Amino acid sequence: MQTPNKIDFFKVLQERHSVKEYDSSFKIPREEMLEMLREATKAPSSVNLQPWRFVVVDERKERLKSLVRFNQRQLNTSSAMILVLGDMNHIDYADEIFSSAVEQNLMPQDVKDYYMSYLKDAFSKMTKQKIRENTLIVGGLVAMQFMLVAKAHGYDTNPIGGFERKEVMETLGIDVERYVPIMFISIGKASKPAHESVRLPIERVVSWNQVDQVIGSSAKK
Ligand SMILES: Cc1cc2nc3c(=O)[nH]c(=O)nc-3n(C[C@H](O)[C@H](O)[C@H](O)COP(=O)(O)O)c2cc1C
Repeated sequence: MQTPNKIDFFKVLQERHSVKEYDSSFKIPREEMLEMLREATKAPSSVNLQPWRFVVVDERKERLKSLVRFNQRQLNTSSAMILVLGDMNHIDYADEIFSSAVEQNLMPQDVKDYYMSYLKDAFSKMTKQKIRENTLIVGGLVAMQFMLVAKAHGYDTNPIGGFERKEVMETLGIDVERYVPIMFISIGKASKPAHESVRLPIERVVSWNQVDQVIGSSAKK
């Protein structure tokens, strides 16, 4: 297993950019891919239910060719395209997750029992829209964490929302009733640096205690 060199968090943060072209001859070993995904899944999730799922397309990427719109360079040259999914049935994993916490003395049995009955009741009353929203929020967190982890491992990424969701799900044989497609992330060794990107000044996006005139107005003051 290739252990990444210790690299400063702020350097990772500064240097992560959306890279669109990679060295197509470089393949990330599956073991390292799993390690990066394991690290990414340290991300927080609502009641620790971890609704994220990943489909790593590292072989036969060409199946996605007509389905990723303007993202052909990433598809053709990346080591892998990772589809981040949300699992609408993630409540079914609660017993496995909490039992493991009890076994490792991280949760008392009575807390697990309380959570299990509370969650079953809460989920039975939750709308599909609400469950979907939750998987989207948590999917965003794990995706971001994965991109930073990848950078720390010496790789580059690009989050990709431009793809044909229904067709991608069909092509990869994924149940659309159960899984919500969140985004693709292309990953590989950069062969061409990313374009620098700008951000709005922080004062334009932060207000204190209520939305004020500066962030509430799209016209620059
Ligand atoms: C949800 C989401 C969807 C995106 N979809 C695409 C995409 O389809 N194609 C692409 O080239 N970049 C895509 N991007 C990358 C953004 O364009 C990029 O993050 C932004 O311009 C800032 O640049 P940076 O990531 O280099 O900081 C997407 C980013 C996010 C978060």
